Amino acid sequence: MSCTQRHEPNLALHIEDLTVAYEGRPVLWDIDVNIPPGVMAAIIGPNGAGKSTLIKTVLGLVRPTAGHICVYGYTPRQAVRRIAYVPQRSSVDWDFPTTVLDVVMMGLYGQLGWLRWPGRKERQRAMEALESVGMEALAQRQINQLSGGQQQRVFLARAMVQDADVLFLDEPMAGVDATTEKAVVALLQELRDAGKTIIVVHHDLQTVRDYFDWLVILNVRVIAQGRVRDIYSGANLRRAYGGRIALLDPESGEEEPDAVPREVGG
Ligand SMILES: Nc1ncnc2c1ncn2[C@@H]1O[C@H](COP(=O)(O)OP(=O)(O)O)[C@@H](O)[C@H]1O
Ligand SMILES: [Mg+2]
Repeated sequence: MSCTQRHEPNLALHIEDLTVAYEGRPVLWDIDVNIPPGVMAAIIGPNGAGKSTLIKTVLGLVRPTAGHICVYGYTPRQAVRRIAYVPQRSSVDWDFPTTVLDVVMMGLYGQLGWLRWPGRKERQRAMEALESVGMEALAQRQINQLSGGQQQRVFLARAMVQDADVLFLDEPMAGVDATTEKAVVALLQELRDAGKTIIVVHHDLQTVRDYFDWLVILNVRVIAQGRVRDIYSGANLRRAYGGRIALLDPESGEEEPDAVPREVGG
């Protein structure tokens, strides 16, 4: 089955029977994921659960062993212009000598083609995106001179100029200050309210219910997926995280006495 028959065109993301392995070792095992359009979805799971791999596979950066992936009923390759990606900050070479404005304009290359130099109209759009994330004053700054939060805003602006329908962000809130986190969340929710689908690898269990309306709980396999209010439960979190973290009781927000950090075998 491929997406050429416009398989599940009503889903923003449809993944079926996907297995991904590195050097023969599966890190995602036979997963099915369905995310409807217009939601703000979190992908959560412990370190090494395969969250980044999942996103990279959707983007075609990692080749799956088996399975297929459809974005609005098309293969990711066919849908490439409808997809924007904000990578994990640590995976980016920040010493690359380029300005904030250039990074944002890279978001337009999908529309321009690599050989067309961006003109005044494109600069205008890039500047508008920088304004919407509060970074217009730093447009000419070298990206290696930005704080973590500022870098994250620049990547968000780049995703915005792309005007994609689905945005994938890998831990956009990791290591940013509280003000930036609030600004990023507000912006993403605004995009969601405008009909975009936002899919975020998220590391902070405490904010899942405040920020997101859809949830995929992952640990090599899909533990649970659906509306946050239906599946965000202590039982599901324990199934994903085991005893590796201090679990929060999703009802009270208090730490559960029986969920102190401890090593678990296997
Ligand atoms: N390029 C790679 N080569 C080999 N193993 C990898 C590679 N990338 C990730 N892994 C391994 O695959 C597993 C899943 O990684 P990743 O998708 O980054 O997890 P997460 O984002 O949930 O922390 C981990 O065990 C990680 O060490
Ligand atoms: Mg990751």
